[in-house]
Amino acid sequence: MRKTYVIGNWKMNGSKAANKALLDGLKAAVPAARAGVEIAVCPTFVYLDSVVAQVAGSPIGVGSQDVSEYDKGAYTGEVPVSQLKDIGATYAIIGHSERRSLFGETDEWVAKKTVAALAGGLVPVVCIGELEAEREGGLTEKVLATQLDAVLAAIPAPVPGSIVIAYEPVWAIGTGKSATPEMAQETHAFIRNYLKKGGEEFAAKTAILYGGSVKANNAAGLFAKADIDGGLVGGASLIVEEFAGIYNAA
Ligand code: G3P
Repeated sequence: MRKTYVIGNWKMNGSKAANKALLDGLKAAVPAARAGVEIAVCPTFVYLDSVVAQVAGSPIGVGSQDVSEYDKGAYTGEVPVSQLKDIGATYAIIGHSERRSLFGETDEWVAKKTVAALAGGLVPVVCIGELEAEREGGLTEKVLATQLDAVLAAIPAPVPGSIVIAYEPVWAIGTGKSATPEMAQETHAFIRNYLKKGGEEFAAKTAILYGGSVKANNAAGLFAKADIDGGLVGGASLIVEEFAGIYNAA
């Protein structure tokens, strides 16, 4: 059985006061764990340690928004997996479209970061997704296949359940314009089938999250689909009622 994940990507948002208010509200809204459904938040590196402390004892996990492919040494500004594990992180978002488009992350670089996360004991949440022009040009499956191939070629072994994939159509991120459940399911089914390159069990046990304008009012329709195993949530994860509503829909 695959796990379901509801993961909040706070992006470059937050402050000590805002984080406390948000997490106090979220802890009250999510008092107990649910079997098979994981919830987590991913603050900036600056707040990771304090957020881990704030959610201690609650069902809420913590992840980073990126990792370094390197583990120690002269790599100014980089944050290694070992330090993220050291402070209690569980997940690492890798290859978000904003890092690909704004900071030049390539498929190969994303793959190296994924390998580092796996080797260091973090759960990589590997983001893939197409641009609007690529979808309109009928290139979605080609783009996703290329992004997945880089990761599948780099990982030492396709261990079932070790990697989480987040499909985020770039044209749905931050736009309020989510993919319809049917459109998302069609693409998730393609991804699920493509993951069979790593074996049937790997494909069956890899959670595939949807990301791109997930809200409390559309989450149930998305999560009801066979190959949608939860969501990677941006803006709505900064609002207690929204994020709790998305979690409750999972
Ligand atoms: O990583 C999740 C993010 O890209 C989605 O953002 O605001 O459309 O939920 P949003």
